[in-house]
Amino acid sequence: MKQRWAAASSSTSLKATSHAVADTVSCRKAKNRLPGLAVPKSTTPTIKPPLTFPGQLAQSTVRGYATQKQATAYIHGKRLYDVEKVRHDFPILNRLINGKPLTYLDSAATTQKPRLVIDELTRFYNEYNANVHRGVYKISEEATAAYEEARAKIARLINANSPSEIVFVRGTTEAINLVAQSWGRTNVGLGEGILLTEMEHHSNIVPWQLLAKQKGAHLKYVGLTDDGHLVHEDFRRHLESGGIKLVTMTHVSNVLGTINPVREYVREAHKQSCRVLVDAAQSVPHMPVDVQDMDCDFLAFSGHKMCGPTGIGVLYAKKTILEEMPPYHGGGEMIREVHLYESTWRDPPYRFEAGTTNIAGAIGLGKAVDYLSELGLRNIQAHDQELTEYTHGTLGKVKGIRIYGPENPRTKAGVISFNLGDVHAHDMASLLDEDGIAVRSGHHCAQPLMERLGVSSTTRASVYVYNTEAEIDRLVESVERAGRVFKV
Ligand code: ALA
Repeated sequence: MKQRWAAASSSTSLKATSHAVADTVSCRKAKNRLPGLAVPKSTTPTIKPPLTFPGQLAQSTVRGYATQKQATAYIHGKRLYDVEKVRHDFPILNRLINGKPLTYLDSAATTQKPRLVIDELTRFYNEYNANVHRGVYKISEEATAAYEEARAKIARLINANSPSEIVFVRGTTEAINLVAQSWGRTNVGLGEGILLTEMEHHSNIVPWQLLAKQKGAHLKYVGLTDDGHLVHEDFRRHLESGGIKLVTMTHVSNVLGTINPVREYVREAHKQSCRVLVDAAQSVPHMPVDVQDMDCDFLAFSGHKMCGPTGIGVLYAKKTILEEMPPYHGGGEMIREVHLYESTWRDPPYRFEAGTTNIAGAIGLGKAVDYLSELGLRNIQAHDQELTEYTHGTLGKVKGIRIYGPENPRTKAGVISFNLGDVHAHDMASLLDEDGIAVRSGHHCAQPLMERLGVSSTTRASVYVYNTEAEIDRLVESVERAGRVFKV
């Protein structure tokens, strides 16, 4: 079979978008440059930072599934939770795709939703749909109470000092844009620097490029080692060069799965009086995150990656910082008083929640937090790590496979990016889809990272609470089939 994506003449039943087509073109260029998808050697020293972060389980504390393969996860001989029972909470997992069970391995893009969350959204619209903070009637009071209770649950989840440090936004992207345009425009000036890393998602790059252009500031990047860790020396060198106002970095890479030691980096950045923003889109859903212990200044994450609805996310910021920040959006409910030529603002978080917010989304996210808390974030982390390790052990044996990022799966969080020979990632994903397996393919909104890896795309499998070893076995069989089809 000819590779559909690699073959210029192919115009068969392609499912991908024009965006993916653009990806294909650049992949051909990349293949000319880097046969065999080799990763170029790092030009910077490969010093690995210490990997300590709040809630990380000591490697020795987690062992494999016991006798009931893929059904139950264990730690210290104690059952984490029953995966089969968890699967029953997710109605979508009953679907057949092409006559085969849906094998959903794209939770880094968005997770599936448990019945508890779906039911609460229905109940909200059926029973207490009303605007919040505006009505003095019963259902508005119920909606307001549920909305504020969701805020309090999120504050407890990440151990914020107070619910007033939790701002509801549309998602991680909006949270980062809010910080860039509110805090950034006020605090970053001409010639000053923002320090990022080469493994950032576009949502943690582009807002800073916009700010840098507006303010005449500049961006600096921490490089990566060949196995996908940050180069600690790079970080230190940039910090010590002076003029850095903000460090902004992902906690967990959405492509490599690398878990960054953000707590250590926050300490070092604070010594140089820099603020730190942590993109926690791929960590808050998967492990305990404690903002007081981490001591970050800002933390951003999305509801839809943690069993919640789409269109709702969170910006956490320290109270003292939020209080100093000007509004990002102007409109109803964020004001104290409005006059014809000037207005005054409410205190945070309401100053940053202009207009009617995503009320149902926030309430649904509150239910998702209940659900994840019931499973236990430590258990979820151990489960994800077990599956990551299992995937490395099985997929890693397939002839022609290349897995990107840390070789030690214990330093990763549930994300496995790979390529098979020179099979294009979109071809791989289309073929897996024939077997009912959903993965993401492409550049994963991390083009600078793809450039660093010397590829234009990868196939990415990402696991969550409901995935099993049996599903990983299905993935591996399907990848092997792709190897036969494409003659790798
Ligand atoms: N940021 C999401 C991902 O990595 C959409 O797939």
